Amino acid sequence: VSATLPIIVSGATGRMGRALEELAAAAPDLHLVGGIAPDGTGRSGAARHERGYPTILPVEAAPPLLADARVLIDFSAPEHLEAVLSLVEQRGGPSSLVIGTTGLDHGLQERLASLEARFAIIVEANFSVGVQLLLALAARAAAVLPAAEYDAEIVEAHHRAKVDSPSGTALALAAAVARSRDQELQQVRRDGRSGRTGARPPGEIGIHAVRGGTVIGEHRVLFLGHRERFELAHQATDRAVFAEGALRAARWLAFRPPGRYSLREALGVE
Ligand SMILES: NC(=O)c1ccc[n+]([C@@H]2O[C@H](COP(=O)([O-])OP(=O)(O)OC[C@H]3O[C@@H](n4cnc5c(N)ncnc54)[C@H](OP(=O)(O)O)[C@@H]3O)[C@@H](O)[C@H]2O)c1
Repeated sequence: VSATLPIIVSGATGRMGRALEELAAAAPDLHLVGGIAPDGTGRSGAARHERGYPTILPVEAAPPLLADARVLIDFSAPEHLEAVLSLVEQRGGPSSLVIGTTGLDHGLQERLASLEARFAIIVEANFSVGVQLLLALAARAAAVLPAAEYDAEIVEAHHRAKVDSPSGTALALAAAVARSRDQELQQVRRDGRSGRTGARPPGEIGIHAVRGGTVIGEHRVLFLGHRERFELAHQATDRAVFAEGALRAARWLAFRPPGRYSLREALGVE
């Protein structure tokens, strides 16, 4: 019996897939069984994976890898995740799923919910411990600073290659603020502003996405009052922070019974 934890990474050829590879290869308690990606060489054709992933296979060829892994970590794209989930469901494993892909639509969220009875699952838009703390603090601030007096705005920035906007983290922050104020996010959410928008209604939650360059991830939550302004901000300076959080989540989740778990409980952020 091996003492190491066998993991498989979906989206292995991407930015996160490579960050995971580097950390997992250096961790004595983890064993990378392999990676899954549409094309083993990466879309750019330039990726080389000699250090960490013994092999990278497309979804249709991945069943033997699934059989060997205890945890699947996915940082890919919604379409890819969907195909991977079908396979995992069909094969009955790996038993623990750590999902970091963002931009999941309602159908995919429902799909994940339907898997909770059979698999131990963490789905999170942001695997950094600092952002988990930011979420908790934003909820607390929103409860203390009333919507009628303090206008909440969320500003996020990411690199130019990010495909979904606003970020999943910005949406999670907006949801946390809305929940604390007993609001329904869909009713108060305002994505950007342009033209003759009229005065800002109280209770609105503005969300703004900046895109460009190589920004790894920045989130700012503003509470703008008449006589004071309160801000919470977080910057990720290395995407390894997300990989590190995902691997901590994987270790924590590996031997849990089926169910949905939060990253906060896995990281001990309360
Ligand atoms: N939860 C978090 O903490 C966190 C942190 C960072 C990023 N993310 C999310 O994780 C996901 C991956 O991010 P990344 O920066 O690693 O992305 P990336 O560099 O573009 O890599 C995406 C990976 O998924 C594969 N893929 C499969 N189907 C794809 C499709 N239809 N479109 C694009 N890629 C596809 C890519 O394969 P090829 O190489 O063949 O293209 C690659 O392996 C995104 O959803 C991102 O928002 C989450």
